[in-house]
Order: sequence, then structure tokens, then C-alpha cells
Amino acid sequence: MNIGLIGSGGREHAICEKLLESKLTSKIICFPGNAGTAKIAKNVDIDILNFNLLLRYINFYRINLVVVGPEEPLVKGLVDFLMKNKIKVFGPNKFASKLEGSKGFMKKLCEENNIPTAKFKICQNKKHVFQFLEKSNLPLVVKADGLAAGKGVTICNSKKKVLQISEEIFKGKFKSSKKIVLEEFLKGEEASYFLIVDEKGFKFFGTAQDHKRVGEKDIGPNTGGMGAYSPAPIINKKIEKKIINKIVKPTLNALKKKNNPYKGILYVGLMIKQNEPYLIEYNVRMGDPECQVILPRLKTDLVKILLSVIKNNLNKIQIKWKKEKCMTIVICSKGYPGNYKRNVLIKNLSSIRLDKKSFVYHAGTKIENNLLLSNGGRVLNFSSLGKSFFDVRKKILKLIDKLNWKRGFFRKDIGWRIISK
Ligand code: AMP
Ligand code: GLY
Repeated sequence: MNIGLIGSGGREHAICEKLLESKLTSKIICFPGNAGTAKIAKNVDIDILNFNLLLRYINFYRINLVVVGPEEPLVKGLVDFLMKNKIKVFGPNKFASKLEGSKGFMKKLCEENNIPTAKFKICQNKKHVFQFLEKSNLPLVVKADGLAAGKGVTICNSKKKVLQISEEIFKGKFKSSKKIVLEEFLKGEEASYFLIVDEKGFKFFGTAQDHKRVGEKDIGPNTGGMGAYSPAPIINKKIEKKIINKIVKPTLNALKKKNNPYKGILYVGLMIKQNEPYLIEYNVRMGDPECQVILPRLKTDLVKILLSVIKNNLNKIQIKWKKEKCMTIVICSKGYPGNYKRNVLIKNLSSIRLDKKSFVYHAGTKIENNLLLSNGGRVLNFSSLGKSFFDVRKKILKLIDKLNWKRGFFRKDIGWRIISK
């Protein structure tokens, strides 16, 4: 079958490679894709939020299955739109996507269903902020209610900062919403737990930990993610049981009761505090770069899995995983997450030889006049599988050495928590 893949990041390149491994796949069309997907699929450079145009291309290329990578088209209702037009599509509908698209929606659902999460208040004005400030201790976390491309969360160590950040959001800093969620700060270790869900049930889809801060030892501003590893050792069987019973099941049941059962990948962002999981956030898609460490470990045919979700047959399929560990290190343009240059030449990639357990997933890249150029903040992901995180990291760092891209930077300490233990 012909598959349409929406998105252009490292996540989508990893998905594209995995979809190609399936015997069921004839051709993949990426909207818009990147230089990595261009080598193995057809890229069509269009605005993915222009649903009518997208539909025309989907029909033109006789696409039988659409896979949506990023959150924005999901939150804006692409799944509902395609289903109405009789196109098979993998991902949650607009209502269920509010789990990620509105932090207020997610927190209210937690409150109504006793799901462990940070204490919070949804605020629409200064008065609401003061009400929460009166009864809370610092630090506090200010979150834009709507999508904010990873820039909507600020951890505040003073009341002044809380007021300043809230005011900016009330005034419309983010187009998606003028509301904020103000919440207490949870101290602990973060981990991500993934599920694949259909209307009847769900299956485990991996664990990972990423490194959001730009600097080594997790300092500096937040980024989309500088690297990740899977599995996440902190999520043991006991904690997993608590995640399922206290967080996942109540959430999925609540959505069913609202007549909008969840379907797709559910990314459960957690803070583990004294062996207790707290929900920090839901994402309604794979993580980026978490996807680049989870999919290399997947043994089962991804297309079969996705089709089984669409048919609500997930219980009939067994999802198998490799025992090996996987890590990814992200190469970024110098200056990211602040200002950086685009269109910078990346010379050496084609001369790097990869073994069967190593992968380079492109993110912000493009080809122009046969040259590979940078086209974003996060540019390339080097992933590799192996027996120990220590060995895998060593192998990746050697590969990055060969790339020798002077206009980029990366963190050498991905996995420091588990490697130094
Ligand atoms: P989010 O966009 O909700 O994932 O938040 C981005 C990052 O902010 C998370 O990955 C955490 O590192 C941090 N964060 C968010 N909420 C909290 C919280 N209540 N307590 C501590 N850290 C938080
Ligand atoms: N790596 C974090 C995310 O995909 O949201």
C-alpha cells in the first residue's frame, strides 16, 4: 500500500525507515519530509495544515494509510477531516488530542479522575494567579494552556517571575490560548512511557528518557530534546503497574465516557518521586527524539500494528521488542535553541559507514543542488543499538567525530544518570 507520512523531523525519518521495512509498504509519500526521507521516499513540500490541499495529494498518490507524526495537525483535527473523507488514518481525533492541545483540559481530567499530578489552578487573569500564589510555595511552574512548540513552560523561582510570565501569556504571547495553568513544582526524575491504543485496549510501546536542557549535566534553556535513551531503567514493573492503574486506565476510561475513545500513540510524561509516578504532561504522538530510540528496538511490523489499531484489533497482535539498548544524540545548529543559521553545508555525512545497528535520522536538513544543508535547530540524530548504554554512547560519539561538523554542537553526556551509576 501507499503510505502518507506527515511531518519533517527526526521522528518522521525514523518512522519512515520502519514503515519501509514492512512487506505491506509499496511507496511512502512524506509531507513535507526532510533530506533523509527524500532518499527513501517521495517528499511533497506543502503546508501540512492546509487540509484540503493535503487531501488532494493523498488522492493523487492513491495513499491508503496516513500516519501523523507531529501534534499540531492532530490538535487541529486532521484525523477527523481525513476520516470524514474516507481516508484511513493513524492518530487521535481532535477531541482526544486536547490531552496535549490544552493543558487545562488535561489537568481537569486528572482532577475529575483522581489522577496523580501537580496541584494546579487554571488562570485567566491576575486575580486567579494571586489566589494560587497565596497558598503555594516556590518554585512554581507557569504553562501556556495551548500548543507552544516546546516554549510554553517556565519554572519560576520568584512570585515576580510568575506574574511577569503569566502577564505575557494573558496578553497573547502564544496564539493558541491566552489561559495559563499554574502549578506546583514536582521534584524527582523524569521519564516517558509510551502506549499504543485502540478503542478496545492498549499495549506497551516503550519507555525512554530524554535530555531537554541544552547544556551538559542538564543545564541551560529547554530544547526539543538533545538526546534520549531507551529503555528507561527508572520505570520498573512496580512503577509501571502504578502508571497503568493510576494514570493510563482512568484517562482512557474518561475519554471513552466522553464518547471520544483514544486511538493512536499516547506519550505519558512522568515525574517519578519516591517511587510514585505523577503525570506531568500527555503528548498525543511519539516523542522526538524518543521515537529515534524506541523504533530501532521494535521487532514487529509497524504497518501491521498501525492497521490493527485502525481496525480495533490491537489485542490480536503481539508486539515484540529487541532486548538491546538504544541511544540517540542530537546534532544541533550552533546557537540553538536561540538564533542559528540555516543553509549551512554538512559535508562528511555520506562518507560515514554505518553498521546494521546504527542509524542517522535527519531532522532539519534539506538537499539543494545535490548538497546537504542544515534547515533547522535540531539537524541530525545519531542512534545506535547495543548491549550497554556505555558502549552505545562510545560508538555514537565516534561516528559524530567522523562527521566533524564544525557549525554544529551536541551533548557528550547523554545518559549520564544511568551511565555513571
Ligand atoms: P511540558 O511541556 O509540560 O512537558 O513541560 C516541559 C518540561 O518542564 C518538563 O519536561 C519538565 O522538565 C518541566 N516541568 C513541567 N511541569 C513540571 C512540574 N510540575 N514540576 C517540575 N517540572 C516540570
Ligand atoms: N522530546 C519531547 C517531546 O517530543 O515532546
